[in-house]
Amino acid sequence: MSKFKEFQKALTKAKNVVVLTGAGVSAESGIPTFRDKNGLWRQYEFMDLATPEAFESNPALVWQFYQYRRIMASKAKPNASHYAITNLEQKLLSNNISFTLITQNIDELHKRANTKNIIEMHGSLFRFKNEFYEGFKEDGINVYSNYNLNICDVLTEKTCAPNISNDELINIDISKLPHDENGVLLRPAVVWFGEALDYEIMNEINSTLDKCDFLIIIGTSGVVYPAANFARLVQINYGVVSEFNLEPTSLSKSFDYFFQGKSGDLLPEAFDIQF
Ligand code: OAD
Repeated sequence: MSKFKEFQKALTKAKNVVVLTGAGVSAESGIPTFRDKNGLWRQYEFMDLATPEAFESNPALVWQFYQYRRIMASKAKPNASHYAITNLEQKLLSNNISFTLITQNIDELHKRANTKNIIEMHGSLFRFKNEFYEGFKEDGINVYSNYNLNICDVLTEKTCAPNISNDELINIDISKLPHDENGVLLRPAVVWFGEALDYEIMNEINSTLDKCDFLIIIGTSGVVYPAANFARLVQINYGVVSEFNLEPTSLSKSFDYFFQGKSGDLLPEAFDIQF
């Protein structure tokens, strides 16, 4: 008997399913997670660069780091986890069960795997915004979609490489970085540590979680708020919470179902539900 049988039975009884993903779903696409041992770029920890203070003191360095991640995400391909989530969405919708994917990832691999109803709560590597604009919603003012990898002459694959030697580091003039048509410096439209999430996106998430009766958490360490609190919000409403992760997390024991392993191995079978 499949180890997923009980989980699948419960899932087919749900009315409003929410999937929450983190960096673990993209790991099998070759994108490093944040809290593993490969999480460095040059000598910097991710958290040294993903802050408004880092951008203010050295915008060129932060742009190089994000351009490196844009290039890496562009080259990566969605993996079996992304496609299993898309299949689940289609199956649930055709059985009148609502589906929302909330992702903390900014690599757009879910979009490329054709999942439709996605909330990108931490923004996207493929959108830029005016450095003074606080929101980052796709259709907001001052937010620009940009899939071009040649965004400017000074942010090339070579200048943004993670293993560049000090001799090769060049001083980049801020005026050469991406600017909008009014001459305002652009930045990646992502959430940095110390920044609030987009207000409209947070409202959308709250109303989605309010209705949610079945939450599936995949590949996130569950230490970054507000996502770290989503399970609790669903549990307060007596919803079912399930988790798929390579390792147990601090909350795994409090969930209804926990499946340990690579999401690319687990999800295709787990989401193969029959009505
Ligand atoms: P983390 O790096 O904190 O956690 C990744 C999780 O994925 C860990 O729990 C791993 O055990 C698990 N994992 C790794 N490979 C996996 C696989 N193949 N299958 C299943 N699970 C796997 O990444 P996040 O939880 O996404 O925020 O981090 C949350 C937020 O912190 C990020 O969105 C980012 C970061 O700092 C911002 O940038 C605001």
